[in-house]
Amino acid sequence: MRRGRDTTSPNLTALSPPILAMHRRTFLEWSSALGAGLLLPGTFGLQPGRVAARSPKLPRFVDPLPIPPVLRPAANQPYPGATYYEIVMAEGRHRFHRDLAPARTWGYDGLSYLGPTIEARSRSPIVVKWINNLPPNHPLPVDFTLRVANPGGLPAGAPAGTPSGPIPTVPHLHGGPTLPQFDGHPEAWWTPGLAQRGHHFVSDVYHYNNNVQAATLWYHDHALGITRLNVYAGLAGCYFVRDDIESGLGLPSGPYELPLVIQDRLLGADGSLQYPATGVSDVHPIWTPEMFGDTPIVNGKAYPVLEVEPRRYRLRLLNGSNARFYRLWLEGNKRRVPLYQIGAEGGFLGAVVTPERLLLTSGERADVIVDFSGLPAGTTLTLRNDAPVPFPSGDGKPLEELMRIRVSRPLSGRDASTPVDALRLPAVPPLDPAGAVRRSFAMIEHHDTKVLLLDGRMFTDPITDQVKADSIEVWEYVNTTGDAHPMHMHLVQFQVLERQRLDAAAYLAAWERGERNGPGAYLQGGPIAPPPEELGWKDTAISNPGEVLRIIARFDRPLGEIQLPAGIEHAQYVHHCHILEHEDNEMMRPFELMT
Ligand code: C2O
Ligand code: CU
Ligand code: CU
Repeated sequence: MRRGRDTTSPNLTALSPPILAMHRRTFLEWSSALGAGLLLPGTFGLQPGRVAARSPKLPRFVDPLPIPPVLRPAANQPYPGATYYEIVMAEGRHRFHRDLAPARTWGYDGLSYLGPTIEARSRSPIVVKWINNLPPNHPLPVDFTLRVANPGGLPAGAPAGTPSGPIPTVPHLHGGPTLPQFDGHPEAWWTPGLAQRGHHFVSDVYHYNNNVQAATLWYHDHALGITRLNVYAGLAGCYFVRDDIESGLGLPSGPYELPLVIQDRLLGADGSLQYPATGVSDVHPIWTPEMFGDTPIVNGKAYPVLEVEPRRYRLRLLNGSNARFYRLWLEGNKRRVPLYQIGAEGGFLGAVVTPERLLLTSGERADVIVDFSGLPAGTTLTLRNDAPVPFPSGDGKPLEELMRIRVSRPLSGRDASTPVDALRLPAVPPLDPAGAVRRSFAMIEHHDTKVLLLDGRMFTDPITDQVKADSIEVWEYVNTTGDAHPMHMHLVQFQVLERQRLDAAAYLAAWERGERNGPGAYLQGGPIAPPPEELGWKDTAISNPGEVLRIIARFDRPLGEIQLPAGIEHAQYVHHCHILEHEDNEMMRPFELMT
């Protein structure tokens, strides 16, 4: 139950029960209102103005791909046995393209946009003091009809452009088995100078145990109800965990290993960052159900170009977009150059996979090798995408070209990395579902209240899921909506167990009648095994429309000493859809780890 000072917007009093039948166009209908720019004070850009309908047309492939720097340890090292860092979150001025003026954006550690890459060793802890130096008001349109961290104490109906008051922020290490007090719980936020804190706040100095194998993690803001805006403004970065198994594989490294943070943004003619402020109805006058930008941004630049040597490279792909999915391939001279996928979110796959097109939902990562060695000097490759939005069958156009790669640099030395055919990746032993506790979560769009709920429950409804530490559980997400949702769990890396088709309309009808017996009676056909690119540890996975997604995880007690905020009895984590607009509007639930 909630205790302490309540600094979230009250709004959404009771959830009215009727649920409309499955209706695939809903979110598109909601989105279609966005075309017309409304008068909107307080967006990015210095004065009140209109939200751009579309970004300016930009010459493509003219800006070099920026590579985020690696975070450097602090000068003082007060924690024996751990490396200490300090990271300031602040506003900067950032050019998304050569021909655009700088935009007001946010970044970590002095970067104008995004954050440095954090490099950690498996099982070697690091400590980060996160410092909130964000400006006194949110430059993007905060919707106070959502349940939102609201330190300014604004009324639930505050119109678009109302100054938000001090910015609450809380960083989350996505994919890390972090103690609850350092996990970035959405209500553990704080404002500059720690002047105000959410009721889950314990500390602004976070310990990360790195008790994972080599993996592609990332960090981003997670403040309640404004995660989509804080991340959109730039608060995200890569976090690579390394180990000896990885070093033994002979993967491309140093300048030949590059993060690619893929995002989409809407830009103003002046280069400013734009976020729509036209809501779906008076229930949420500002909230947009999915933000799909029309300009691809990789590592902070629109349509960048990367110059490479004719050798193997390791690319760490992160879909850091709010809502857009990508289905990627690399093409040059009308030919595909394979993306050899060696890892997913939580580590290596058991074997190299060469997907036709590589699907990345919001929040997912892929660890990929590309071999440019056979390509003639001057070869030009384009990273292409054909994923419609909302995925998989929405009317929204894919961003067809994301970036270019040119094989233009001379080979600077022998390529000593292991050829892809010779790579032997460590096996991923499957978790055994026998005897596992099972939980089922219905994913339902409630059209009247304009929320997407897990199991009909609001985020602050009493906790219904208590998981015994060190136990194995199977969770199933029953997708009754018309669109795919990337489901993400905190604390654990899971395995995709299987998927199964479902008569979603019949299941929904039963739900409306008040039956809560799970989807068993409405399943169609047998379980479908995950594709090879999912045969590894993951923390985010696609839940397809009209399907049940089953994942399996061992809920290991996180290393270190659990500290709980006053009034909280058990370690609390969240699971949610990683479409940030959905996460910000109730498609997130807490669970407790019982230790
Ligand atoms: Cu990447 Cu709960 O988030
Ligand atoms: Cu996470
Ligand atoms: Cu969703």
